[in-house]
Amino acid sequence: MTKSLAEQGIITAVCTPHFNPAEVSMEDFLKAREGAVQSIQNSGVKLIPGSEIFLHEYLFHYKDISPLCIGDTRYLLIEFPINKTWDTKNEFYVRQLINYYGIIPIIAHIERYKPILKNTGILKRLRDMGCLIQTNTSSVIEKRTSRLVIKYLQAGYIDLLGSDCHNMTTRPPCFTKALKEIKRKAGLDIITRLEVNSERVITGEYINKSTGYILD
Ligand SMILES: [Fe+2]
Repeated sequence: MTKSLAEQGIITAVCTPHFNPAEVSMEDFLKAREGAVQSIQNSGVKLIPGSEIFLHEYLFHYKDISPLCIGDTRYLLIEFPINKTWDTKNEFYVRQLINYYGIIPIIAHIERYKPILKNTGILKRLRDMGCLIQTNTSSVIEKRTSRLVIKYLQAGYIDLLGSDCHNMTTRPPCFTKALKEIKRKAGLDIITRLEVNSERVITGEYINKSTGYILD
């Protein structure tokens, strides 16, 4: 995967293995992650450790969750349980992350949450709280999701693009294809914004989201 990313012009990758606090301790997760990063040599891509957190109440048992963040930053990639209806507990947890831990949550693959897609009020609330919103490259390409993701990108509701790659067979990295599609359908400015935001996340800089437009 790192070889493929390098071939697609990617110079830095944030590694975000899944962490479910209900299944494994943070200590064991961090040990396994360290081993995995160490095992990748000469990838041609700079690797930054991170995680993708499944929001669960057990996460809040830890006093310090900063080792789960992207590199040395306060940015943390999180995902919600997939449910038909919106659980307001999600927003409570997000608020806890922001207020108690000083975290800037990045909501992973926004296109997967049907209740959010049906009700942009939730999306607006999450953004107003200070969350950043991420989408997957595969969702830009796939027919089923492409229109909606492009619409969100144009509306300024998506701050970050991620590969969410898991392997080289069913979920390979596909930046080249996705960026081509965004450029064709939404224009180069949006790609520039995504790139600038990515750079700011890995360097821990603040992202100004005021450039977002309102969806009709
Ligand atoms: Fe995920």
